[in-house]
Amino acid sequence: MVRSDTLREPRASVPAVGGDLPLDGVVYQVYLRSFRDGDGDGVGDLVGLRAGLADIAALGCDAIWLNPCYLSPQRDHGYDIADYRAVDPAYGTLADFDAVLDRAHELGLKVLMDMVANHCSTEHAWFRAALLAPPGSRERERFVFRDGRGAGGSLPPNNWGSVFGGAAWTRVAEPNGEPGQWYLHSFDSSQPDFNWRNPEVAKEFLDVLRFWFDRGVDGFRVDVAHGNVKADGLPDHHGTGHNYAMWDQPEVHDIYRGWRALGDTYPSAKYFVGEVWLPSQDSLASYLRPDELHQAFDFGLLVQPWNADRMREAIENALRVAGAAPAWALSNHDVHRAATRYGQSQSLDAPPPTDMISAARRTGPTDLELGLRRARAAAGLLLALPGSAFLYQGEELGLPEVFDLPDGARQDPIWLRSDGEQLGRDGCRVPLPWDASRTNLGFSPDGAAPAWLPQPVWLAGYARDAQKADPASTLTLYRDLVRARRTLFGTGPLRWLAGPDGLLGFTRGDGLCVVNLTSRAQPVPAAWPAGRHVVATSTGTDPATLPPNSTSWYQLAGSDTSGRGNQRHNL
Ligand code: NOJ
Repeated sequence: MVRSDTLREPRASVPAVGGDLPLDGVVYQVYLRSFRDGDGDGVGDLVGLRAGLADIAALGCDAIWLNPCYLSPQRDHGYDIADYRAVDPAYGTLADFDAVLDRAHELGLKVLMDMVANHCSTEHAWFRAALLAPPGSRERERFVFRDGRGAGGSLPPNNWGSVFGGAAWTRVAEPNGEPGQWYLHSFDSSQPDFNWRNPEVAKEFLDVLRFWFDRGVDGFRVDVAHGNVKADGLPDHHGTGHNYAMWDQPEVHDIYRGWRALGDTYPSAKYFVGEVWLPSQDSLASYLRPDELHQAFDFGLLVQPWNADRMREAIENALRVAGAAPAWALSNHDVHRAATRYGQSQSLDAPPPTDMISAARRTGPTDLELGLRRARAAAGLLLALPGSAFLYQGEELGLPEVFDLPDGARQDPIWLRSDGEQLGRDGCRVPLPWDASRTNLGFSPDGAAPAWLPQPVWLAGYARDAQKADPASTLTLYRDLVRARRTLFGTGPLRWLAGPDGLLGFTRGDGLCVVNLTSRAQPVPAAWPAGRHVVATSTGTDPATLPPNSTSWYQLAGSDTSGRGNQRHNL
């Protein structure tokens, strides 16, 4: 099938954004406990991060997004927050945080934190107070407490299920020791949901944001941004699909209007990107209104199989919804790593809309060589797209998912709550390999305690130090792509080219990006813009032909960007 040409103009040009963070930046996601361990306890921390920032800057990134590092009992590794104004001692101190911020800014990196406002931890002072206070009290009104149904209130107030498995309600013992009310938790029972219909909650979060903005933080990734408000009356869920009463309530938008208004009061306005998992990407648009979030992650591309039509469709969808600047990601700390996903058999069934996350957490036989080849090609696609690109730590090393973790080492509440039926997310959170010859593969200083999740022996083969020196490594490829991307593609719109099955091609700015998603070599179609030279390729060197499962970037003739500092990367 030959496609028809599609000319896709952006809805608007890339808007300038506060905090000087452009909406087409490259953001490196730091999963702190697995990035780098500075103090030798086997857990990544802020001192380790500070030492590793230069490597992130050397990759050419514009910003980091730091997963939660607040005080937390770590039942969901920081997504269960006990104090929003304190750093967890496992990660360091507020002074260590400030040192990270200063060093990042010195290196030209913006710093985004993670705001978790749907829920906190059962260890949070407000929740502890709520447990000691009677039903109907001001303390309980900050959360979603309800009487149970059935005899003696022994059944949950409604039939909602938790995202992590099991019921979304847990019963408390009242101060007199009697079984009492139930509280809502969309996730683990250690993560009680806030009652966002209570203005005290809204006020508290504005104050928390101000606390971090005043320290110099440049913005936030907003955790489950579609979650905070629940439908009035908490109606039962009918059917097995998406529970519309639990997510995406109209009132949720007031929260982001308030946050945006606060962020915009700073001389360098602050930036927000939302995590919004919804059955239809179309619903993202309402979070991107001019007075709400600047961006929301597009997960439509992440969950696609290795198939040209499906990927193109996902890209077109995202551009339609988010205009010129979607926020793309191919991996994060919640899904299996791309090098593994693309090495698994590729079902062309659309992921059930309510089950987007599971679609990116499949098990089964994996061809890792094929997966890495495709992941490298996918990086070439990702980094050529208009909008911002979020890179999850370790992607730049081509890391696969670690499936061979001992059961006893697994810590994800998804694993624990499903009694081991679902592997959960530990396999994409294994501490990074920095130097194969050192303690914990260089993740920790010499003589350190074992890494918090065991690193399999084979992980040594992906160590950063060896990749740095290897022109054919995945790290070198990422560095070349990130550096070349801005000068080659600029802020130009994406224009698809008509081509044969399995080949994606588009021009943007001064560049041409061609992705071969098939398992056979394919020539660049003769009808496509001529007079080009290769700027970067994920595999191979022949400018006229794309090897199987590869991406090449070309500079178009007559678009000499060398005067603007463009570099050639003939790999
Ligand atoms: C989404 C986060 O990315 C995930 O890691 C976390 O477990 C849930 N939200 C709950 O906060």
